[in-house]
Amino acid sequence: MGLERTLILFKPDAVMRQLCGKLLTRLEDRGLKVVGLKMLQITPEMSKQHYSEHVSKPFYPQLEAFITCGPTIAVAVEGLEAITVVRTMMGSTNARDAAPGTIRGDFGQSRQVNLMHGSDGPEAAAKELKLYFKDEEFVKYELVTAGYLMADDEK
Ligand code: RTP
Ligand code: MG
Repeated sequence: MGLERTLILFKPDAVMRQLCGKLLTRLEDRGLKVVGLKMLQITPEMSKQHYSEHVSKPFYPQLEAFITCGPTIAVAVEGLEAITVVRTMMGSTNARDAAPGTIRGDFGQSRQVNLMHGSDGPEAAAKELKLYFKDEEFVKYELVTAGYLMADDEK
């Protein structure tokens, strides 16, 4: 339990299919607090850092080609157990296996072209938040709904 911060990417397919508004709405509707947001072009160097665990895998060249093929939107969100909550909202890596109601299960059909990234654990979240945002780029504010999103003993 507790407040966590995690890193989300709306991948180039989401940007180029004009789905980012819908994806952001899902995060907001869940009560996740956006604390950082930017549009950027991922370079091959950034891809190798972001996907360092996959660089030596056979599918990596295709993954790099995809993630650098167009703009990406990086979103930092905060919420109770946000890392797991976002991964669950995203659904299985292969969108064909992703449950209806999840982002991949509702918007996609591909294992690679799968709309969204979410950090898969606290270590990855720390590394990835740093990769996309400088400390001073995180904004500080209170949601007007803050008092209704969680009980005091859940924070
Ligand atoms: P992501 O890192 O993008 O959030 O996705 P994930 O955790 O669900 O999946 P992961 O295993 O970390 O894989 C990273 C991305 O690599 C592509 N992929 N291709 N061809 C393949 O076998 C294969 N496996 C993974 C996907 O784009 C996946 O999101
Ligand atoms: Mg992953």
